[in-house]
Amino acid sequence: MNCGIRVLRLAFKFQIRYYSRKMKHVKLSQTDDLMPTLGLGTWQAPSDVIETTVYKALDLGYRHIDTAFNYNNEEAIGNAIKKWIEDGKGTRKDLFITTKLPHVGNRASDVRKFLELQLSRLKMDYVDLYLIHVPFAFYCNPETLTPLIQHSGEYMLDMETNHITTWKKMEECRNDGLVRNLGLSNFNEAQILKIMKAAELKPQVLQVELHAYFQQMELRKFCSENNIVVTAYAPLGSPGAKEHFVNKYDYNPDTFPDLLGHKDVKEISEAHKKTPAQVLLNFLVAQKIVVIPKSTSEHRLQENMDIFDFDLTPAEMNRLKKLDKGEEGRIFNFLFWKGVESHPEYPFKNPKAVVMEGAQ
Ligand SMILES: NC(=O)c1ccc[n+]([C@@H]2O[C@H](COP(=O)([O-])OP(=O)(O)OC[C@H]3O[C@@H](n4cnc5c(N)ncnc54)[C@H](OP(=O)(O)O)[C@@H]3O)[C@@H](O)[C@H]2O)c1
Repeated sequence: MNCGIRVLRLAFKFQIRYYSRKMKHVKLSQTDDLMPTLGLGTWQAPSDVIETTVYKALDLGYRHIDTAFNYNNEEAIGNAIKKWIEDGKGTRKDLFITTKLPHVGNRASDVRKFLELQLSRLKMDYVDLYLIHVPFAFYCNPETLTPLIQHSGEYMLDMETNHITTWKKMEECRNDGLVRNLGLSNFNEAQILKIMKAAELKPQVLQVELHAYFQQMELRKFCSENNIVVTAYAPLGSPGAKEHFVNKYDYNPDTFPDLLGHKDVKEISEAHKKTPAQVLLNFLVAQKIVVIPKSTSEHRLQENMDIFDFDLTPAEMNRLKKLDKGEEGRIFNFLFWKGVESHPEYPFKNPKAVVMEGAQ
């Protein structure tokens, strides 16, 4: 055989083996479905950009996409996935798609309505994982499907929120094949326990804010004892949230410390010839946490995938564990939805104020 062809064949074989070693999965309790440890986050990714990004990400090897009704991009993500499949690059079964029941639909009577709308936007028959996005609920403007807001700027809270009846409806949708796995997002331990006690299919995944500054040790221990996979949102410390919250909600910019620029993270990344983002993601996946970094840059999409080919030393792991600020490290407390902390199911204790003094 021609030597050049042999070299090419070997390189191709090696690439496939190398690639399959890189893509890791976690098994979900109760269904044994495999969830890729790395997913693509899509919050703040506008529709016109995310369509190209998702197509590129799938080409690069991403198989897990995280979206939500509230991100207003399910339609574009659905277009990208449909095209990718039609182009013969893979099948629906190769993919793991997560989306979320919004705060305005967090009630039993709305579950199926929202899920069916989301599936039609995503152009698929089922999603792999459906999460209740937040434990609280707002009344919904039926025309815009956005929260109703009072003249004072306060959100209109639906105080009748009942997680058990909502969950039962989600189970029903699952039995009807609209979704394969069920989970929660931004719920606290007591709220999860209550659902677990009443559930036929227990929550399999909990998606929460989790990064080196906010490591959620207690909640993670609880999840591990109950076979709940933890997905870390904002795994890089959500650098894009700063601009969004400062501009849109008058947050104090000082409440967003720069995790990617932290001295320890930078030193560890230099030691491994990796980037700070790769170190922060590796730190989490090494602890069996699913990560869903968001990027719309092709370069960073690739960068965020190349996280499985190095090991942090125990000393480096400990150094990063020490960056945990506990509750002080939380960025997403949802107080930007004015009045939300008065909802009986608001999940966090003593959320810190982050709005600029004098701001409305
Ligand atoms: N369940 C919930 O309530 C909830 C809340 C927040 C987020 N989420 C989910 O979790 C995902 C991730 O969270 P997130 O988007 O807030 O934060 P993140 O993934 O920690 O950070 C994303 C930001 O970092 C930048 N970035 C990405 N890769 C980078 C790299 N290698 N080096 C430097 N900068 C990089 C991105 O900019 P570029 O795009 O320009 O690269 C973007 O501004 C979301 O997209 C969403 O899917 C869920």
